[in-house]
Amino acid sequence: MKINIIICSVILLYIVQFFCAGDNVSAQESTVNPTLDDSVKSFLEEKRGSWRDMNVPESDGKILYDIIIKNNYKNALEIGTSTGHSGIWIAWALSKTGGKLITIDINEDRYREALANFKKAGLTKYIDAQLANAHKLVKELEGPFDFIFSDADKGWYKNYFIDLFPKLVIGGCFTAHNVSDGTLSQWFGGGTAEFYSYIKDIPELETTVDNSGAGLSISYKRGKK
Ligand SMILES: C[S@@+](CC[C@H](N)C(=O)[O-])C[C@H]1O[C@@H](n2cnc3c(N)ncnc32)[C@H](O)[C@@H]1O
Repeated sequence: MKINIIICSVILLYIVQFFCAGDNVSAQESTVNPTLDDSVKSFLEEKRGSWRDMNVPESDGKILYDIIIKNNYKNALEIGTSTGHSGIWIAWALSKTGGKLITIDINEDRYREALANFKKAGLTKYIDAQLANAHKLVKELEGPFDFIFSDADKGWYKNYFIDLFPKLVIGGCFTAHNVSDGTLSQWFGGGTAEFYSYIKDIPELETTVDNSGAGLSISYKRGKK
């Protein structure tokens, strides 16, 4: 009788371990999608050097990708889709974290081309592309967001930031393109100087500027000090 109980317990233990291991495997697999990776890589390869619509350089796209992966961000917003180069890097990262991107552009031709590019890259289901004036839509979006990339009309950056800062979670990141901290003369200000001088001293933000591409400000929102 005792032996029977022991045998039954061991069998039960094996069954439980089997199902638990199964859960772990599927959780890992859900963030790994080699087919999608191949599709995005070959699309980016094919388009390399041919982005002509004020798109970010590849190096800045990679920085955005790395920030999202490193911080496991899931709720992203991009202002200024254009034809979708940065959106592809952002959405590719979100396809791995289980997140989604809302991206906005006011120009219908570029919006339509971006939709086609997202489809070719295989990323459509990770992107909600909006044809709209971001001045209005940004105010209406509820959030919260954990990652924001500002790359539309430079003179409006400060206003976008003011609207979005309350919708950015603590630990989240606000990035903005073509920003200079003054160390590189070619991007000195460029319409974004007012924005940079506004954010750089906000105590709840830790801001750095990456000058390796076209000037990318990267601001992490910390709790109140
Ligand atoms: C520098 S491009 C964006 C490039 C894009 N991030 C990329 O790397 O592919 C700026 C875009 O912002 C859009 N834009 C400018 N003002 C806007 C506004 N008020 N609302 C929405 N989009 C706007 C323009 O139509 C343009 O396509």
